[in-house]
Amino acid sequence: MNKKGLFATKPIQDYQQEASSKQLVRALGIPALIAFGIGGIIGTGIFVLTGLAAAQHAGPAIAISFIVAGLGCMFAGLCYSEFAAMVPVCGSAYAYSYATLGEFIAWFVGWNLVLEYMMACSTVAVGWSRYAVNLLDYFGINFLPAWLTSAPFAAGDTGFEVHRTGAILNLPAIFIVGLATALCYKGIRESAFVNTVIVAIKVCIVIAVIVFGAYYVNPANWVPYIPKNTGVYGEFGWSGILQAAAIIFFAYIGFDGVSTVAQEAKNPARSIPIGMLGSLAICTVLYILMSSVLTGLVPYVQLNDAAPVPVALEAHPQLAWLRIWVDWGALAGLTSVIITMIIPQARIWLTMSQDGLLPKIFGAVHPRFKTPHISTLITGFLAATFGGLLPIGILGELVSIGTLVAFIVVCIGVVVLRYTRPDLPRLFRVPAVWFTAGMGVLFCAAMAYSLPSATWWRLVLWSLIGFAVYFAYGYRNSRLRRDEVAPSPPQAAPGTPRSAFSPD
Ligand code: ALA
Repeated sequence: MNKKGLFATKPIQDYQQEASSKQLVRALGIPALIAFGIGGIIGTGIFVLTGLAAAQHAGPAIAISFIVAGLGCMFAGLCYSEFAAMVPVCGSAYAYSYATLGEFIAWFVGWNLVLEYMMACSTVAVGWSRYAVNLLDYFGINFLPAWLTSAPFAAGDTGFEVHRTGAILNLPAIFIVGLATALCYKGIRESAFVNTVIVAIKVCIVIAVIVFGAYYVNPANWVPYIPKNTGVYGEFGWSGILQAAAIIFFAYIGFDGVSTVAQEAKNPARSIPIGMLGSLAICTVLYILMSSVLTGLVPYVQLNDAAPVPVALEAHPQLAWLRIWVDWGALAGLTSVIITMIIPQARIWLTMSQDGLLPKIFGAVHPRFKTPHISTLITGFLAATFGGLLPIGILGELVSIGTLVAFIVVCIGVVVLRYTRPDLPRLFRVPAVWFTAGMGVLFCAAMAYSLPSATWWRLVLWSLIGFAVYFAYGYRNSRLRRDEVAPSPPQAAPGTPRSAFSPD
C-alpha cells in the first residue's frame, strides 16, 4: 500500500472514531430506516418504466427482469451491509472505497454517487412534474403554460445530440426540489416523519393495485410468458429479459441510501443492514406482484406508455376508481424519493469534505438542526437546476450507471478488506463472500453493459471532469495526505476525531 500516493487508504479506525461523533443526531430506529429505504426505492421505476420495459423488451417475463435486477441489488446490498455494520459512517460507498481501494477510487465513487443521488433527485422531479400537471388538469386547474412545465432541451434519437424543445423551464420540478430541500435542511427527524407518512400512502396504493387488480387478471395475457426473440438482441427472449432488467434497475435505486444515515441511526450496526435489506426485500416482492398484475390485466404490448398503471386499470371499468388513487400514489411516491435522495447526497459531501477532498463549506453542520445544511442547499440548488433544464431520459440513465459503478466497487471492496484486515470485528458478515460479491459484480456489470453507449460516453465525460476537480483540489487538500506529510499533527488532541469539523 502506497500511503502517500493516489491509492492511499484511510484507516478503518478513523472511520470508526468518526462514527461515534455526536455531530449529527441519532433519531432513526428500524421502522424509520425501512421506510427510508422504501421511500427511496418505489417511484419512477415502477410507475413509469415498467410498462416500456415490458412492452419493448421482456413481455410478461418482466417479472423475471425484476427478479434479476433484485438479485443484483441483494448481492450488492449484502456487501454494503458488511461495511455499514463495521463502519457506520455517512459516507457510504465513498467511505468504504477509501478504506479499501484508496483515495483515487474513493473519489471516483464519490463523484459517481453524485450521478446516483443528485441526478436521481432531478430525474424524479421531472416525473413528479408530469404527474402533478396531470392531476391539476384532472381537477380543471391549468394555470401553468406548457413552456413552464417541461425542459428546454431534449436528447435526439441517438442520444448524442441535444436539441431545443421550445419550453423555458420545468417549474413544478424546481418547486418540489425546493420544498424537499427545505424539509431536509430542517432536520432528519422531520424528514423521516414526513417520509414515513408518504411511504405508508404509496405502499397502500401499490398493494391496492395488486389486490384489486388480481381479480381481473386474464392468465391468457401471460402466454407466451417469454415472447420469442425477434432476432435483435434485447427484443424479447432472454436477452430482452436482461435488457429490461437494466432499465428497471432504476426502480431499485435508493435502498443503499439507508447506509448514508448511519450516523443518524440508533444502533446502526444492526439497524442499517436491517433497514437496507428489509426495504429491498419488501419492494422486490411488491415489484414482482405488481408487474405480474399489470401484464395480466392487459396484453403487454398495450403497456407501451409512460403511465402503464392507469393504462392497465382503464382496460377494466370496474377498476376505474383506482385510477385517481394511482396518480396520488405516484405523486406521493416520487416526493419521498426526492427527499431520500437529497439526504444521502448531502451526507456524502459532508464526509468528503471532512476528508479534505471537498472544500470545508460542504462539511458544515447546522448548530441547531444538526443537518449538513450547506451541502443540503447545494444539492437542492443543483438538483433543481438540472431537473428544470434537462429531460428525463438523459438524467435517468446517468443515475443507473453511476449507481452500478458504486455497487461494483463496494462488492470488490468487501473482498479486499477480508484479506487486508481479516482481524476487524464484523458484526455482519456477507455469507460466502467470494460468491456473493462475485455475483454482485457480475449482475451489476451485465446491467451496466446493457445501457446505451451514449450513457457510457457521458459517464466517461463526467469522470474526466471529476478527475480534473480531484487533481485541482482534492489531491492537494486531502487530510490523509496532509496528516501523513506533517511531522506532527497540529491541534489534534488525543481522542479527537481527526476529521471532525466544527462549523464554528
Ligand atoms: N428507485 C427510485 C425510483 O424508481 C429512484 O424512482
